[in-house]
Amino acid sequence: MAINQSSSNQTNKKKIAVLISGTGSNLKAIIDACLNNEINAEVALVISNNPDAFGINHAKDNNIPYAIINHKNFKDRREFEIEIEKQLDQKDLDLICLAGFMRILTADFTKKYHGRMINIHPSLLPKFKGANAIEDAFNAGAVETGCTIHYVIPEIDSGDIIIQKAIAIDKYDDLASLKNKIHQIEHLAYIEAIKKIL
Ligand code: GRF
Repeated sequence: MAINQSSSNQTNKKKIAVLISGTGSNLKAIIDACLNNEINAEVALVISNNPDAFGINHAKDNNIPYAIINHKNFKDRREFEIEIEKQLDQKDLDLICLAGFMRILTADFTKKYHGRMINIHPSLLPKFKGANAIEDAFNAGAVETGCTIHYVIPEIDSGDIIIQKAIAIDKYDDLASLKNKIHQIEHLAYIEAIKKIL
């Protein structure tokens, strides 16, 4: 009798889904960490709500299944999420990583994946919640900022913190250099957080 085992079963790799809306540099860092066995996992699914997200290319380039679920095609937030759930639930996922996914999620959705869904935020939470965290820290004259990986709960940019990494904002930084510094530590922090969980 033929036994049809996927490679993930043979190697006991954990399965990760990554949800994106834009550039996908954190997605790329996660894919690379899987490919070089830094984490014992595979990215089994990428979902983008934005059909033009550059990050979709990282899925295509690495033959990773992906789904484009454009929120504009759904009558409300919940209908949109139900389509995402359909895609996620087809995979036997161990972890869902939000990586620049720019949609607010309902409590129905976040509760369904409680303890299995994490997010990256570009500030030292609870400081500078919201969509403009890097700009807000810069404009506030903060002397340090950083990034946070946290579990997702219904309240935005809250939930138990898994890892934080800080960087100094020095007098030579402008917004562009600060964004660049934060992205660099984000990639390290996301991998560390995944390692810690899986
Ligand atoms: C990151 O700065 C992340 O903290 C925020 O959105 C950005 C996504 O960047 N939530 P990328 O798409 O992973 O390059």
